[in-house]
Amino acid sequence: MNRRPLAWLDEELQTLDQLELRRHLRTHQGPQTAELSVDGRALINFGGNDYLGLAADPRVAAAASAAIKQEGWGSGASPLVTGHGASHAALEAALAKLEGTEAALLFSSGFAANVGTITALAGKGDVIFSDAKNHASIIDGVRLCGARPQIYQHLDVDHLEKLIAQASAFRRRFIATDTLFSMDGDFAPLVELCDLAERYDATVIVDEAHATGVFGQQGRGLCEHLGVEDRVDVRIGTLSKALGGHGGFVVGSQALIDWLLNRARSYVFSTAAPMAASAAMIAALQIVHDEPERRRTLLERAANLRSTLRSQGWQVGGESQIIPILLGQPEPTMQASHRLREQGLFVPGIRPPSVPSGESLLRISLSYAHTEEHLARLIAALDELRRQPLR
Ligand SMILES: Cc1ncc(COP(=O)(O)O)c(C=O)c1O
Repeated sequence: MNRRPLAWLDEELQTLDQLELRRHLRTHQGPQTAELSVDGRALINFGGNDYLGLAADPRVAAAASAAIKQEGWGSGASPLVTGHGASHAALEAALAKLEGTEAALLFSSGFAANVGTITALAGKGDVIFSDAKNHASIIDGVRLCGARPQIYQHLDVDHLEKLIAQASAFRRRFIATDTLFSMDGDFAPLVELCDLAERYDATVIVDEAHATGVFGQQGRGLCEHLGVEDRVDVRIGTLSKALGGHGGFVVGSQALIDWLLNRARSYVFSTAAPMAASAAMIAALQIVHDEPERRRTLLERAANLRSTLRSQGWQVGGESQIIPILLGQPEPTMQASHRLREQGLFVPGIRPPSVPSGESLLRISLSYAHTEEHLARLIAALDELRRQPLR
């Protein structure tokens, strides 16, 4: 008998095709820079998260190579067994120093850091308030942890207050939010969230994934920029965006870190990243410290680009290096992305499930590695696109 238990996948994939919701993997050759060769085609890259242009920085690569010579490649085990190497410990110390906290803990990814931290802290009998546009890894942590999930409307402090005011009977209250939202490029109202947390005795957990290295005087992120570092109890970050590498981290008190290394399952039961990946990130942190002009230039360019695009008539959101052009439906969004690609520009179209239905957008992400010419080409191509109707 010709049994095909997965035949339903063909139909589901066809449906995704019809709705313009099917995703395909692209392969780039060579390093991740502002100019990419994708499937053999040269494109200016407005789709990556390498905001400071460090992914291909030779100093970062040299630090990785030197560490490979000294420490080899694989870590060989999970951190609590024999996988925690000297470079991991040095990076944790460097992160704690940069962030001004007692301690730091590395995870194998930012995703693992969010899921592991939330599930280690919140549980049965607790309630967790989560912004409607939080990253998938926060959503999954919230779903898994066993606490009662309460989703508040995006950035809506009044809505959150209505919910949290009725939550005094729970054992503990948590508020979890991205600081800089990855698709809309807007900021969480961190001051107001901290006010509410203090009023209603809640713990604030933030994910600085897209803000680390970009915002704040020292590049520590949006908590630094908005002056709430001392009021936020749990700060999660990733090394995979502005730092140009790979891995996630949590910074906070020694007790927090000790608890996580005992209880965060994505930490305890996962092999530590290669030591060289940590050595590379120590070099990246040094560059963030030594070259603040990278983040300043990036944010200046982003502000200029937002106002140029608005003057072209686009509906542009955000307050950061992530610049969304809001188009609404998946079809025109993907069509716009394809047309830009024909002009040699990679600007991803973002559609459900990455954004809610009706909120598809072109996501322009800027990098310090872009040149004035790259930006001029983007502006000219969008100007031309504006004149042609999208279906
Ligand atoms: C807001 C946010 N948090 C966490 C992550 C996950 O980080 P990583 O890519 O290091 O797993 C991402 C990555 O896309 C993100 O956008």
